[in-house]
Amino acid sequence: MERQRSFSLKPTRLLVFSFTIFSSFLFLSTFTTWLTNYTPSLHQQIDLPFNTSTSASVGHSDIVALPPLTVHSLTKNFTAHGVKVPTSISNRLARTQKSLSGSKSEPVRHRVGTSNVNFTALQEYGTSPERAPSSEQKKIVAGGLVGKTQVPILNKIEQKGVEGCDLTKGYWVFDESYHLYSKDSCPFIDEGFDCEGNGRLDRKYSKWRWQPRGCDLPRFNASKMLELIRGKRLVFVGDSINRNQWESMLCMLLGAIKDPTRVYETHGRKITKEKGNYSFKFLDYQCTVEYYVSHFLVHESKARIGQRRRPTLRIDAIDHGSSRWRGADIVIFNTAHWWSHSKTQAGIYYYQEGSVVHPQLNVSTAFRKALNTWASWVDKRINHRKTRVFFRNSAPTHFRGGDWNSGGHCTEAILPLNETLSTAYPEKNIILEEIIKQMRTPVILLNITSLSAYRIDGHPSIYGRKTRSSKIQDCSHWCLPGVPDTWNELLYFHLQST
Ligand SMILES: *[C@@H]1O[C@H](CO)[C@@H](O)[C@H](O)[C@H]1NC(C)=O
Ligand SMILES: *[C@@H]1O[C@H](CO)[C@@H](O)[C@H](O)[C@H]1NC(C)=O
Ligand SMILES: *[C@@H]1O[C@H](CO)[C@@H](O)[C@H](O)[C@H]1NC(C)=O
Ligand SMILES: *[C@@H]1O[C@H](CO)[C@@H](O)[C@H](O)[C@H]1NC(C)=O
Ligand SMILES: *[C@@H]1O[C@H](CO)[C@@H](O)[C@H](O)[C@H]1NC(C)=O
Ligand SMILES: *[C@@H]1O[C@H](CO)[C@@H](O)[C@H](O)[C@H]1NC(C)=O
Ligand SMILES: *[C@@H]1O[C@H](CO)[C@@H](O)[C@H](O)[C@H]1NC(C)=O
Ligand SMILES: *[C@@H]1O[C@H](CO)[C@@H](O)[C@H](O)[C@H]1NC(C)=O
Repeated sequence: MERQRSFSLKPTRLLVFSFTIFSSFLFLSTFTTWLTNYTPSLHQQIDLPFNTSTSASVGHSDIVALPPLTVHSLTKNFTAHGVKVPTSISNRLARTQKSLSGSKSEPVRHRVGTSNVNFTALQEYGTSPERAPSSEQKKIVAGGLVGKTQVPILNKIEQKGVEGCDLTKGYWVFDESYHLYSKDSCPFIDEGFDCEGNGRLDRKYSKWRWQPRGCDLPRFNASKMLELIRGKRLVFVGDSINRNQWESMLCMLLGAIKDPTRVYETHGRKITKEKGNYSFKFLDYQCTVEYYVSHFLVHESKARIGQRRRPTLRIDAIDHGSSRWRGADIVIFNTAHWWSHSKTQAGIYYYQEGSVVHPQLNVSTAFRKALNTWASWVDKRINHRKTRVFFRNSAPTHFRGGDWNSGGHCTEAILPLNETLSTAYPEKNIILEEIIKQMRTPVILLNITSLSAYRIDGHPSIYGRKTRSSKIQDCSHWCLPGVPDTWNELLYFHLQST
């Protein structure tokens, strides 16, 4: 009634009314234009908004007194003394690039350099035994890297940053002033990643810094990071490789905390391999750093097939733990390693949509469907004004001379590979990138696959356990401190640059 009366308008009211409408409209369209321009596309997000010169690496030299040997690896200008890329390699790269673009849809063999790389086989969860390795794969990389590593990386999709800098292309530089925390300073490293605690004696693996070509990755500043997440929820969702990265983040952040008792798990849970839900509170910053296990991001279910109830994967339904991911301010997803032949029962009566269990579905098709399920969930349920969404793509494994369960090993590698040859970019990454591009929500890709592919030295190998009874090596997870710290530096870079 009230409202109706106010609509019986006098001329002056009408004038005011239409003016209001007009100006609202004007504001709205301006705002929309601004938003459209502001909301960055995938490519813009990957770009580098800062200068080569504004590097955080400037601080290196005043942090540690450097032994003479490593000084030259710490100079800012890496190109000045860098090793030239041999033309033969360039040619090989060019050729590979050509052949890559021609064979996009083929199943991808993931092999990097002298190592045997498998993006699908995770140690804990079997894949079928590997074929005999070629002699090339047995070759062991030794010395000569320190201070002057410069290795080419394939770049299939051309990516131009503000300064033409691509964070995924570069090389590892030995840097004494790294590592960002130690085993003694961080109680959150679980046994599986605690290489030093499990007896690994060589320490170089924790002292390599990723050096993109043409720019620097800012050094992780824990207090700054904590400021960035003050009052917020930083959430990691995914498989044990994401737990790896989450533990790295906890350790890196702890470096800025004076009183460690002011950091605790909110339910008093101890980090173990089995449990999968953790929320660590940093009291001083009123923020939480959380991890939720979800191997596939979609729902692991069961269905009656014939006489028996068997495990299935509902590729059309998001993981039931998703309610916990929702209110996050920053969320980092991953899934890759569990999409393997053996873990998915070869796709035979495993993938389910609605009440239909597919008699057979190949892993690529199922992975794509599942990621689409994830993507629609994100687009529907995540408020992208509040939540920043990241996806970390697949981390390479480095089993040589077999698979995880057939004598595959990496324990002899104490230095990064100095080059990765004929890298086939994993199909799962390609699917992921296609899906992210179609989403309404801006998703930032943490593109760590290629940079991690050099780091054959970064795995726990035989140092994934205190006892060394088993012959099985872990060449899929990563020692901490180690490679996942760099992934977190990438995350930090994206957070602090916007
Ligand atoms: C960025 O680079 C340009 C040219 O290379 C230089 O003039 C400018 O001062 C730099 N800006 C910063 C913030 O370093
Ligand atoms: C970096 O190296 C380039 C090429 O060698 C050289 O021209 C430039 O002056 C160097 N810059 C610094 C700051 O040393
Ligand atoms: C990688 O894993 C797949 C599936 O689990 C397996 O079929 C393949 O033989 C493995 N390849 C290598 C190079 O280890
Ligand atoms: C790096 O690669 C080059 C070219 O293949 C090779 O000659 C050299 O021995 C390698 N260096 C190391 C340290 O492996
Ligand atoms: C991720 O990095 C690799 C290696 O540089 C590159 O080939 C690929 O195109 C990148 N992906 C995206 C989406 O930028
Ligand atoms: C880290 O950032 C803080 C400001 O948040 C600054 O005071 C401090 O000097 C930085 N530390 C380093 C090592 O750059
Ligand atoms: C984590 O929490 C979810 C949701 O409450 C629950 O379904 C799941 O069983 C929990 N997982 C573990 C490993 O505790
Ligand atoms: C999976 O199935 C799809 C559709 O049937 C097909 O296009 C694709 O080539 C298959 N991929 C593999 C690796 O078999």
